[in-house]
Amino acid sequence: MYKILVKQELAPDVKLFEVEAPQIAKKAQAGQFVILRIDEQGERIPLTIADYSREKGTITIIFQEVGASTRKLGMLEESDCLLDFAGPLGKPTHVDKKGVVVCIGGGIGIAPVYPIARAMKGAGNQVISIIGARSKGILIYEKEMAVVSDKLYITTDDGSKGQQGFVTDPLKALIQSGIEIKEVIAIGPVVMMRSVAEVTRPYGIYTVVSLNPIMVDGTGMCGGCRVSVANENKFACVDGPEFDAHQVDFAGLMVRQQMYKDKEQGGCQCHSR
Ligand code: FES
Repeated sequence: MYKILVKQELAPDVKLFEVEAPQIAKKAQAGQFVILRIDEQGERIPLTIADYSREKGTITIIFQEVGASTRKLGMLEESDCLLDFAGPLGKPTHVDKKGVVVCIGGGIGIAPVYPIARAMKGAGNQVISIIGARSKGILIYEKEMAVVSDKLYITTDDGSKGQQGFVTDPLKALIQSGIEIKEVIAIGPVVMMRSVAEVTRPYGIYTVVSLNPIMVDGTGMCGGCRVSVANENKFACVDGPEFDAHQVDFAGLMVRQQMYKDKEQGGCQCHSR
């Protein structure tokens, strides 16, 4: 059993748990995820690792309540326990010194971008971050991102915080300023990641996205998380979740996500972002 040590509400329907999981915390790296189950009847819920502390032996997860499983998860309190908490899963982000790295997080996707930005900064990169949300009230991790970024841009759809518009607006401005961007990492809704990929594609800027297809076993056995990358079938859980954005079939990914939309609303599937 895995105890919830800290619970915080970051925004309406967005919650943070710090979970006691020393074995996972020992090995966790930026870009990886866990799959949890609340109880015997529970769905498997994949969530990207938002933070980890090897000293405290904890893993931080942030999730949005979008279906029955995540709503049930959100009702748990500090000292409650999760039945399963498996990880770290997936390949970690490739972190080394590259130069200027732009880290982009949209909505709940800001949470998994944070440890990546921190790791990139730690590796000696100049980290420029762009975070965006629909409005100020649901913008998360602003302070945390500011700490690990050399420069932080904020956008909101309604202009209630930062620049009105989308995360791609500051990205376009940065590219046009002539700054030599070595890599862009974007995590958020599929439409956002696709837009980022389309902005960087003409400039040949290497761009990485973290995909969030439906996951079941998380071990490459069920095929649930299949995505097409460079016209090859890949499994996000073992081959990813990060892929070269310019090789991803976003249209196919969106079709697959849509297939599960009704079930998600009805309570069958859920995801972190
Ligand atoms: Fe089953 Fe990836 S979740 S193959």
